[in-house]
Amino acid sequence: MITINEHYLKLQASYLFSDIAKRVETFQENNPDKEVIKLGIGDVTRALPKASTDAFHAAVDEMATEKGFRGYGPEQGYAFLREAIAENDFASRGAEISPDEIFISDGAKCDTGNIQELFSQDITIAIPDPVYPVYLDTNVMAGRTEEFADGRFKGIVYLDSTKENQFVPALPKEPVDLIYLCFPNNPTGSTITKEELKTWVDYARDNKALILFDAAYEAFVQDDDLPKSIYEIEGAREVAIEFRSFSKSAGFTGTRCAFTVVPKECVAYDKAGNSHSVHTLWNRRHCTKFNGVSYPVQRAAEAVYSEAGKAECKELVEYYMKNAALICETMDSLGYKYDGGKNSPYIWIEGNMDSWEFFDMLLNKAGVVCTPGAGFGKCGNGYIRISAFNSYENVVKAMERIKEALA
Ligand code: MLT
Repeated sequence: MITINEHYLKLQASYLFSDIAKRVETFQENNPDKEVIKLGIGDVTRALPKASTDAFHAAVDEMATEKGFRGYGPEQGYAFLREAIAENDFASRGAEISPDEIFISDGAKCDTGNIQELFSQDITIAIPDPVYPVYLDTNVMAGRTEEFADGRFKGIVYLDSTKENQFVPALPKEPVDLIYLCFPNNPTGSTITKEELKTWVDYARDNKALILFDAAYEAFVQDDDLPKSIYEIEGAREVAIEFRSFSKSAGFTGTRCAFTVVPKECVAYDKAGNSHSVHTLWNRRHCTKFNGVSYPVQRAAEAVYSEAGKAECKELVEYYMKNAALICETMDSLGYKYDGGKNSPYIWIEGNMDSWEFFDMLLNKAGVVCTPGAGFGKCGNGYIRISAFNSYENVVKAMERIKEALA
């Protein structure tokens, strides 16, 4: 008899964004004439940078020739892209990362979901609340949690991110082994200072723990004093893995390219207390289960670092940040409290009501889709997340409708 991985039965019925999509679909079926504006899932809407599409086309043409054709590439990614990343994303910020510590992949979602399989079943995991659902769900699937009760899984150390701590959680009171952090934060849009991040790095060093740092939204950091990478913090190379993505910074959500940084000093331990290189383990996993991102996509990603590519990506980020500013302005005018929107494309709004109720109200009264905060965890209840990813025209229209609906 074929039996299932019963840990899957502990999961909430469906993935948050699928759940929202279904509700929106039902609404559209019942209101076929109403135009819905989607400010829910953080999916970019603007065209890829021309520098990337030019490189993409050229690489496809190369593949059409006997000489330029390429079969399987290196699982870890082509050197041209890894070198461009090391220089532009890290060396330029004073963070020392070598190209062979960078693993190219098809998404930060996959990498943040897959990484947990390197670690033992009985580790203690600290996960912020609210949080990007992938971190938690993948650990549930792997059997690292007990039952779900009162909005939380037993066996997880939740790091409450609330308005009282400006959505930057305090260090856990009990020792933990694996810590998920995401800054600029999804969903709250909050940021962390170098000093605050240093306390996490020091904690990890003191406790032989490991930090999984999701920096998928670093491109939206406007304040130069804020860290874009955890490797800007002294001592992080031994205790942190970082996840990055071209999805939001260069419009690659549909093109798929991301990377994970695993420094060679980064270690985890066996039961006898011997240290092992996490870089070696991740490389082993990557080679076994992944065959690399396609050559044209990697060329398109490399072009992001050309002078033209950098200018176009900057323009993309500025475009979405102008949307974010308009959302913040609207919330100010309506007297709503919010976080984010200044160094992040997400605006986390305190709704003073159940977040699914708020979601339904915005959908029904304004035809605007947001993300209910409760979908990101218990501490998210009472909040909604509005994403700045859409056309400026649509954001203007959405804000007008929200003003009318909430006035
Ligand atoms: C989000 O809306 O939280 C993100 O778009 C989800 C993702 O990047 O997978």
